[in-house]
Amino acid sequence: MDLPLILHKKHSLATVGNQQMVNFTSNDYLGFSDNEELKAHVKHALDLYGLGATGSRRLSGNHQVYLETEAHIARWIGKPAGVMFNSGYQMNGAIFSTLASKSSLIITDKLIHASIIDGVQNSEAQLVRFRHNDVHHLSQVLKKYAHNKTDIYIVIESIYSMDGDMSPLLAIIELKKQYQATLIVDEAHSIGLYGNGGNGWVNQHSGLDDVDVMLLAFGKSFGLSGAMLVSNQEIVQRMKAKCRSYIYSTALPLPIASGIKKASEIISERNDLNQKLNKNIRLFKTLISTTSNTQIQPIIIGDKDTAIQVERKLLERGFFCRSVHHPTVPKGESRLRITITSAHTATQIKALAEAINNAFVQ
Ligand SMILES: Cc1ncc(COP(=O)(O)O)c(C=O)c1O
Repeated sequence: MDLPLILHKKHSLATVGNQQMVNFTSNDYLGFSDNEELKAHVKHALDLYGLGATGSRRLSGNHQVYLETEAHIARWIGKPAGVMFNSGYQMNGAIFSTLASKSSLIITDKLIHASIIDGVQNSEAQLVRFRHNDVHHLSQVLKKYAHNKTDIYIVIESIYSMDGDMSPLLAIIELKKQYQATLIVDEAHSIGLYGNGGNGWVNQHSGLDDVDVMLLAFGKSFGLSGAMLVSNQEIVQRMKAKCRSYIYSTALPLPIASGIKKASEIISERNDLNQKLNKNIRLFKTLISTTSNTQIQPIIIGDKDTAIQVERKLLERGFFCRSVHHPTVPKGESRLRITITSAHTATQIKALAEAINNAFVQ
């Protein structure tokens, strides 16, 4: 399948092929990929540090910028330590081969991101999934599988990437305590948007003491790339000592690593961007009825061909929206995945809603 070719992207617009469109596919929820203050900082860091890390952290690349950013982000979140990775996929793919063993049980939500599933499959641990956001089913799974296991991990997302709905964190914390499990929350789509000054979904729910590991990805609301696992010293030191994708990969470019720290500082100060994002989400939801209250707005269509047709109609009308299908989402649940950002204008959102309504009737 041909992927749409992007020739130019700025704010809420994208030139796709030869057509300028309003972009509703971006995970750059706060418009940070084009934030002037952040770009100026990264340009300065580029002059200061150069481009590449020149080696893995363990060999020649352990620059103080990484240590400063790790310490800063961990403090911002409220955890003792953090370890950076080149991407969320790389991080999630390596967690369980590092921390878990043959006698571990890993329980994930059914809709957990593919990177976590791949990560479990890279380990020797047993994987069991519970029905999406179904705490009762999680308790049944724990009852059935937890005995004889040396350690149990429960893995959830804060906001699910294809559904935009939120996990029942507090109820899951109760079960985690009951079974003395390690609770891991992937905050890829919530960091920067929730909590005090953007410090995340777990903090918004005062869950910091009960969530053992938080996974942050910086390619979304930070407008950059890279990722960080934040946790206690023991887990972070184990990752730094043993994790193969940390040890055997060239570290993130230094300007990006420095930009991650700067982005968190700007996010802490710029509440206006979050307010604008929330206003845009509310506007969209007054026009189109969906099950999500977050910036990720799925419009479930069901049949793959129909979803592709709707996508085409929107593209023809100048709205860059993508449909997603199995295996990214369950079979028969093809959908449009619309993402709302702070860069959208009210006019753009109203026009999209009208085009969506028209696409279904024509
Ligand atoms: C929930 C979740 N975790 C992890 C990732 C991977 O992050 P990255 O894009 O930095 O590889 C994604 C990416 O979409 C995601 O949605």
